[in-house]
Amino acid sequence: MSDIYRDNSLKYWNETHKDVKRSDIKTDDWLYRFDDLIEASASPILDLGCGGGNDTLYLIDKGKNVISCDQSPKAIQSIIKNFPEVYDAKCFNMLDGFPFEDGSFEIVIADLCLHYFREDDTRKILKEIYRILANGGHLIFRVNSINDINHGAGQGKEIEHHLFETESHTIKRFFDEADIREFFKDFDIEFMNEEIMTRYSLEKRLYRCCVQKKNVRG
Ligand SMILES: C[S@@+](CC[C@H](N)C(=O)[O-])C[C@H]1O[C@@H](n2cnc3c(N)ncnc32)[C@H](O)[C@@H]1O
Repeated sequence: MSDIYRDNSLKYWNETHKDVKRSDIKTDDWLYRFDDLIEASASPILDLGCGGGNDTLYLIDKGKNVISCDQSPKAIQSIIKNFPEVYDAKCFNMLDGFPFEDGSFEIVIADLCLHYFREDDTRKILKEIYRILANGGHLIFRVNSINDINHGAGQGKEIEHHLFETESHTIKRFFDEADIREFFKDFDIEFMNEEIMTRYSLEKRLYRCCVQKKNVRG
């Protein structure tokens, strides 16, 4: 990502994350399908790009130890305020590498936070996720679908295949199945489904996925 997009993204998300109350935080229960994996995880669960904590809330309600991470200090302040029971909360930019040891996690959650990057940066971030997952560990994520026309798919300047500049001069990728199979080829895809999320005022089309780290990098 060129520095301008990186700076714009931080500015955009710092302005977007408002001081919310815990009682106003809602989860849309998309993780429900993966409860067996979540319940079996003995290590803390990483919530990447946690924002205000929709998924942190779901995981804490399940009694899990959660490490919530985001680039936005505003988001992390809000997590610490609303979730005093969170195991840890870390403010870092995924583009700078991840401050965790190899094989630290059985489960990494990345909800709507992996689609803001150029191809080379996306690959770098996925390599980091691969590194910090234990063998056989799972990455559970959602990304924009190429059919997400209510939220910018196919609109604005296409600066790379399926990557568009937004009105706020940030960048957003929209995936199709082939993109997901290609970007996540170091993982086994266990679940991939295009669906509609109704958490926002306009319906959002996205892919919900669960991929497993292959034991041997091939
Ligand atoms: C659409 S929000 C998703 C928030 C939350 N996961 C959810 O689904 O409610 C995207 C989040 O990703 C974070 N994010 C975007 N780029 C990032 C980066 N390079 N490093 C860390 N976090 C980033 C943003 O700050 C923002 O909080």
